[in-house]
Amino acid sequence: MTQTELVTKRLEGKIAVITGGSSGIGLATAHRFVQEGTYVFITGRRQNELDKAVKQIGRNVVGVQGDVSNLADLDRLYNTVKQQNDRLDILFANAGVVDFAPLGSITESHFDDKIRIDKILNVNVKGLVFTVQKALPLFHDGGSIILTASVAGSKGAHGSVYGASKAAIRSFARSWTVDLKHRKIRVNAVSPGVISTPMLSDQFKTNILNTVPMKRVGNPEEVAKAVAFLASDDSSYITGIELFVDGGIAQI
Ligand SMILES: NC(=O)c1ccc[n+]([C@@H]2O[C@H](COP(=O)([O-])OP(=O)(O)OC[C@H]3O[C@@H](n4cnc5c(N)ncnc54)[C@H](OP(=O)(O)O)[C@@H]3O)[C@@H](O)[C@H]2O)c1
Repeated sequence: MTQTELVTKRLEGKIAVITGGSSGIGLATAHRFVQEGTYVFITGRRQNELDKAVKQIGRNVVGVQGDVSNLADLDRLYNTVKQQNDRLDILFANAGVVDFAPLGSITESHFDDKIRIDKILNVNVKGLVFTVQKALPLFHDGGSIILTASVAGSKGAHGSVYGASKAAIRSFARSWTVDLKHRKIRVNAVSPGVISTPMLSDQFKTNILNTVPMKRVGNPEEVAKAVAFLASDDSSYITGIELFVDGGIAQI
């Protein structure tokens, strides 16, 4: 965020959970939410990264270590939220993993923590489903759920399994809009393009630059602004959409 940018307090008094909040897009969003007045719970698997993120954010933040593909970890997360607050207003289901294995080299499981089909689907699809489902009892009517999808869900890019997992997430935003309409909970997807985070190598970012109409990679803070919009009342009549923050890459 630039020094001259004024941050409104659109999210004053809200309680939010951000999965994958210890790095990249999730961390930038946690910063933004706190600046806008929210109390945030952030998650990630690596305790060290989580501790660093909590320290960096500095106030109104709690780190809860856990893996979104582990249902017991999700129960622990929401129990922590429940112990400290009686409700949840915003959920940013953002944790995800990427893999660019082309067809022909996809394997069933993973060795040495190399990412393969099991892991992608376990984290990006199963993990996201239960992240949202297990949060529902804590939601009061009128909350906002934002899911991190990707331009990879719409484009024929590298990493078909990753792309398919993100297309599933986009589809969840539509279906859950219907499932949750009686509770007045809005569900939207945000689809980043190429964003400068530890997830993508510098080589990948350089190679792809030519295909981005805006001719630059995005910053996590630019995604965070869109997520804060979807979390706030500024988007009160918006649900079920996919909001691209992609410098135009998936629009041409
Ligand atoms: N960067 C891009 O260009 C881009 C583009 C489109 C979509 N996205 C999506 O944006 C989301 C965030 O990615 P990012 O770019 O910000 O990457 P990042 O900087 O690597 O952050 C990923 C975050 O997710 C956490 N995480 C990963 N697996 C997890 C798991 N199983 N359980 C809990 N937390 C987990 C990581 O912490 P630990 O590793 O400690 O668990 C970290 O906090 C992902 O869903 C990604 O697919 C990114």
